[in-house]
Amino acid sequence: MDKILVHGGSRLKGQVMVSGSKNSALPILAATLLTKEECVIHNVPDLSDCHYMLQILNHLGAQVERASGTVTIKAEKIVTEAPYDIVRKMRASVCIIGPLLGREKEATVSLPGGCVIGERPIDLHLKGFEALGAAVRIDAGNVKVLAPNLRGTTINLRGKFGPTVLGTDNILMASVLAEGTTVIDGAAAEPEVVDLANFLIAMGAKIEGAGTRRIIVEGVKELHGAEHEVIPDRIEAGTYLVAGAIAGDEVTLRNVVPEHLHSVTEALIKSGFRIVTGTDQLTIFGNGKAGPLKIVTEPYPGFPTDMQAQMCALLTKGQGISILTETIFPQRFMHVPELKRMGANIEMEGPSAVVQGVERLSGAPVMASDLRASAALVLAGLHSEGTTEIHRVYHIDRGYESIDDKLNALGANIERVKEKSGA
Ligand code: EPZ
Repeated sequence: MDKILVHGGSRLKGQVMVSGSKNSALPILAATLLTKEECVIHNVPDLSDCHYMLQILNHLGAQVERASGTVTIKAEKIVTEAPYDIVRKMRASVCIIGPLLGREKEATVSLPGGCVIGERPIDLHLKGFEALGAAVRIDAGNVKVLAPNLRGTTINLRGKFGPTVLGTDNILMASVLAEGTTVIDGAAAEPEVVDLANFLIAMGAKIEGAGTRRIIVEGVKELHGAEHEVIPDRIEAGTYLVAGAIAGDEVTLRNVVPEHLHSVTEALIKSGFRIVTGTDQLTIFGNGKAGPLKIVTEPYPGFPTDMQAQMCALLTKGQGISILTETIFPQRFMHVPELKRMGANIEMEGPSAVVQGVERLSGAPVMASDLRASAALVLAGLHSEGTTEIHRVYHIDRGYESIDDKLNALGANIERVKEKSGA
C-alpha cells in the first residue's frame, strides 16, 4: 500500500490535462451490456473504479479489451448475477442492474454496503424498477429483480435529498428496451447523465430531455453497438482549479467543458480569484488569501457535493469565516478532523462546517477516508509548512489519474512511497 508525502510551499505554474470522467465512464461501461454488439468507448480514465467495472463486465461474460484510454466491449452472451466479492469494492456497481434488467429481464446483484460519506440507500432505484413492472426482492444480501415484461410508465425519482444520479442512470438503462413510453420526473440533470443518454442514443435508444428534470424514453426492440468519447471529468478539473487557487501563480486546465464547472468557477471568482475561460480550457491566477464564502451543495447545476471538501481545504487559510453546508450527504465531513490535525480552525454545526481562516497550517500524518476527502488533504498539504503524510491513498486512486505526477508537473513537491508493512 502507498502513502503520499506532500512537501508544502511550492508554487504551481503551467498546464494540466484533465482526464475522462469517472462518474460518466462507469454507467457508460455498464450500458454496453444492453447490446450483443461491439461497443468502443474512448477517454476512459485509468482508475481503479474503472478497472472494477471492467472486471464485473468480464465476470458477466463480456469480452473486454483495453488499449490505453480506449475500451472495446462485446457482451454477446451474458449471465445476470454479479457476486459480492466484486461488487463490494465499488458502490457504483449498482448501475449494472438497469441494463441487465432491460436486456435479460432479470438481475441478481449484491446490495451495496455502508459508505463513510453517509447513508446511501438505493430505495429510489428499486422503486423505479418496480414501477416498470419488475418484482424486487432483497435476499441473502442480494437485490433480485425479475420482469418478464417491462412496461413504460411515469416515475418520480426525487428523494429526500433531491434527485439521484445513479438512480436516474439505472432507470434510463432499464427503460430503453421497455414496452412503451417511460417518463422520469425529478430526474438528475448532471452532465454525466446527459453523457450516458448520448451514448444510449448512439446505440439506437429514443430519449428526450436528458439534462432536465423530466426525461422521456420511447422503448425500442433492441440496441446496436456504438462508439463514444467520455466527457472530461469536471470534479477532477475542479480539484486542479482549487490547487491553482491554493498555491498557483497561473494554472491552466486543458480538455475541460467550462460550463460544467460554472458553479465552481463562480465561487472561486467570488472568493477573489481571476479565472480566464477558453473554449476547452480554464486558467486560474492565484492571488494569496481566499475571500470568505458561504457554500451550499446542491444537485447540478448547483455547487457539487464532490467539490465541498476541496473548497474546505482552500478556505482553511482564507480571510474571515466561511460556511460550507451539505444538503446531499449531510455527514460528508470526514476531511474536517484531519484538517484540524493540520491546524485548521473548523467547527461543525449540524450539516455545516464553519471555517475560521488561519495564518498557517502545518504538515502532519493524516488518514484518507474517501475519495474527495483525500484529495482535500493533498490540497491542504500544498499550503502547509513541512510535510503532510497521507495514508490509504488507494482512496485517491479510485478517482484521480496520477494526481501526484500531474501536480508535480505543475511544480509541486509530492512523493508516493510504499507504506512499511504493518503500517
Ligand atoms: C453519484 O452518486 C456520484 N457517484 C457521487 O460521486 C456523487 O457524490 C453523487 O452522485 C451526488 O452528486 C457516481 O456517479 C459513481 P445520488 P449516487 O443517488 O448516484 C440519496 C464521487 O466522489 N438517495 O445522486 O450514488 C443519497 O443517499 C462520488 O465521485 C436516496 O435516498 O448519489 C444522497 O443523499 C461520491 N435513495 C442523495 O440521494 C436512493 O435510492 C443523492 O445521491 C438514491 C439516493
